[in-house]
Amino acid sequence: MGILEDVKSRIEIAELIEQYVQINLSGQNYRGLCPFHEERTPSFFIFPQTKSWRCFGACADGGDGISFIMKIENLTFKDALGFLAKQFGLNIRLTQPNRSLTPLQEAHEAATIYYQNYLKESQEGKEAFEYLLNRGLHPETINNFKLGLSPTGRQTLKGHLISKGFKERELMEAGLIKKSQNGFSYDMFNGRIMFPIQDISSFTIGFGARSMSNEIEPKYINSPKTPLFDKGSTLYGIDKANESIRNSGTGVIVEGYMDVITAHQFGFKNVIASMGTSLTSNQVNQLSSIGNEYILALDADAAGKEATIRSLENAWKTFEVPASKINGNLAGRIKKTSVRIATLPNGTDPDNFIQQNPDAWNYLISEAKTIIDFLLEVLPKRYDLSSNDGKLQVAERFGILLLQIDDAETQDYVLEQLEVMLDVKRHTLHEILGINRQALIQKARRDKTKVEKVEGYAAGFSNNSSSPIEDYVLSLLLQNPDLAVEVSEAKYLLFQNSENRAIFLAILSGSIININSIVEGGLERLKLFSLPPMDIQQKKEALNQCLQRLEKHNIQSLTLLESTLLDEDKSNLEESKILDTVRQHHSRLKELFLSTSNEKGIN
Ligand code: CTP
Ligand code: MN
Repeated sequence: MGILEDVKSRIEIAELIEQYVQINLSGQNYRGLCPFHEERTPSFFIFPQTKSWRCFGACADGGDGISFIMKIENLTFKDALGFLAKQFGLNIRLTQPNRSLTPLQEAHEAATIYYQNYLKESQEGKEAFEYLLNRGLHPETINNFKLGLSPTGRQTLKGHLISKGFKERELMEAGLIKKSQNGFSYDMFNGRIMFPIQDISSFTIGFGARSMSNEIEPKYINSPKTPLFDKGSTLYGIDKANESIRNSGTGVIVEGYMDVITAHQFGFKNVIASMGTSLTSNQVNQLSSIGNEYILALDADAAGKEATIRSLENAWKTFEVPASKINGNLAGRIKKTSVRIATLPNGTDPDNFIQQNPDAWNYLISEAKTIIDFLLEVLPKRYDLSSNDGKLQVAERFGILLLQIDDAETQDYVLEQLEVMLDVKRHTLHEILGINRQALIQKARRDKTKVEKVEGYAAGFSNNSSSPIEDYVLSLLLQNPDLAVEVSEAKYLLFQNSENRAIFLAILSGSIININSIVEGGLERLKLFSLPPMDIQQKKEALNQCLQRLEKHNIQSLTLLESTLLDEDKSNLEESKILDTVRQHHSRLKELFLSTSNEKGIN
């Protein structure tokens, strides 16, 4: 499967758009305020059955998931595809062997090799290599993770990269050099073990740099935020763990560089690191699209920290998709990502735990607790439960969690645990929490039936959105390059399939080569499509007729949609702009029918 098909098959249209637009269920579709123009009455719709979206208001545009991303992120077709591929954890490098790198990427690749060579070949490197071996790493592991050493000289990397043709400005932007107060620029990293941080396609995007002596503070220096690198959206080791997590569905999240490297050396290939901080929602999103079960391996120290606990209280929200949000055609397939917590013994981190006792790692992971159980264990330790004040504080913290739990069974379980832990009766607990258990349970039930209902609607609908007329137009143009001058670029709006849109625009601008690698299979098919023998005049006519047919088809399907929407939406009719759009479409449709009534083109 090519990258395009792969990305398309993973797009859940409502889930995708929901990242940008607040949407509500409206009949079997979703509705919200259009993100592309100012409005007060929602005229933006998502149609899960056809995996498409449309604004019935001022912008009157619509399309598929890729075109939504193009528009909202202001990206080209190719970049939107890359953007989504990244979000879905796909390795785009596999299908794009000839992709050219940006200067920033080139600089990072060159720096990676430079540091690696310096580790292997210099006198300073010997000591550093010794350090790494002492820490239990095998030479193959050092190679595999491309570990290196930055020289102690202050302009060594800079000099090397400048001599290779990089500009000082580029190195500055890459975060590889920094300006000092005297106005000169120096290497960012000196005399440190270099950990190249790689993206999912194994390109270096930044570095972690560790001092070799515990006297030198800080222990780690990381690349600053650059156009390539942002700590909060990076997962160290993702390129090496991706496949394993995808295959098994399960990943293990640790804190540090060394934890990942050691885990992989011992064959635990599903381990990635959050770069030392608590997980961000961006990281969670990336992970959710790769696997559906994650275990957070925390050292005992971190597990007891307020910051960790707080982040887990929040992660709970991010990870566990509440039932009320699982809707539309997502319901059947959405992978509810779950997180569990494994706590390491006091004084160990995954790196030294695995070095000392690799066989115990799988057991430790298998014993991981749910977030709820973890919080039930650690939270009470932070309060004085012999005092009423302490009890109240614990109860209140769980009260907030309880409100987010959607299933009655878990709610009941937490309440039961609290009864014992705080030594209070259930009715007292209810009073303290100010919640009514019955109401909670009912809410959970409501959400559940909503999901089932929507699932029923979506069943039996086909997602086949390929259009023979779109294909025909593109074949004509591809096989007759001269025809391109006959068509206005504005007609791109007629193509509902974003891939076809991109091909159309690429043909008109003579840049088909740019998207060739992505739509390869599709292009081949279009080029081979057998067309009847026609002279140039006939071809022009066929082209025009097809474009008109395309418009007619579009309007017909829009009209169908609009009438469905109107049926579902009688309440809002007065304010709704949909009625206007329907009228416009009807009159345009009439025109088209009149002008094409005696054509004999293709259908
Ligand atoms: N970290 C960082 N900056 C620091 C300290 C830590 O960015 N000053 C990040 C690094 O990603 C590091 C992770 O937090 O890998 C975990 O920190 P720590 O446990 O202190 O380091 P280890 O990875 O265990 O490194 P080592 O075993 O070499 O001490
Ligand atoms: Mn460590």
